[in-house]
Amino acid sequence: MRLRNIPGSEEVLNNCSYVINKPKEHKGRWFNVFQNNNPIQIEIGMGKGKFIVEMAKKNPQINFVGIEKYSSVLLRAVQKLDMLEEISNLRFICFDAKEIDEIFEVEEINKIFLNFSDPWPKDRHSKRRLTSKEYLNRYEKIIEKYGILEFKTDNKILFDFSLEEYKESNWILLEVSFDLHHDLKMNTDNIMTEYEQKFSEMGNVIYKMILKNKE
Ligand SMILES: C[S@@+](CC[C@H](N)C(=O)[O-])C[C@H]1O[C@@H](n2cnc3c(N)ncnc32)[C@H](O)[C@@H]1O
Repeated sequence: MRLRNIPGSEEVLNNCSYVINKPKEHKGRWFNVFQNNNPIQIEIGMGKGKFIVEMAKKNPQINFVGIEKYSSVLLRAVQKLDMLEEISNLRFICFDAKEIDEIFEVEEINKIFLNFSDPWPKDRHSKRRLTSKEYLNRYEKIIEKYGILEFKTDNKILFDFSLEEYKESNWILLEVSFDLHHDLKMNTDNIMTEYEQKFSEMGNVIYKMILKNKE
């Protein structure tokens, strides 16, 4: 998905009002960015942004921050936006979630979404998976008390790994579906991501788990 060296991409991102270029400066003060105290929910690894843009439009009382590691991918999200339509509760950040606690303060985040995160299939790379206990511990530093994490994937190996990892963290399993699109309860109001659309059209089953922070 990573596209390299797109000419002019930095300029486009620097001039886009949705993109926060120095996110560390807003740690503990994101209410200033949004000009309100509404809850803040984040998607880590937002890709081209279909999910978070739709979430923001549907939930104007919640603030959304989409986080994407690669500027070339974030550029695609920005290019897809209709600039004539203002979505005041939406911002994007180009950032590696490994240092997520450098941009958000303790308990500043209400909910975290992880959608179709990279599987990192080799065992020696397991710490890079966004649902590894290492990452779950990082999220714990920013999530509010009893805050929620939602994770969707079509990758059964990553899903099974994630179902074990949370047990070694301060998160508890709230709900799980091994076939989201045929799960009446959990699929209600489901917003599909780009990858979800692509993989479900190929016939892949989609898995979803919801974790809650213990305290
Ligand atoms: C497989 S894509 C899924 C995109 C989108 N969530 C979807 O479901 O269509 C995973 C995305 O996560 C981003 N990503 C991977 N590791 C990341 C990290 N540590 N911090 C932020 N983004 C990351 C990748 O660059 C990629 O765009």
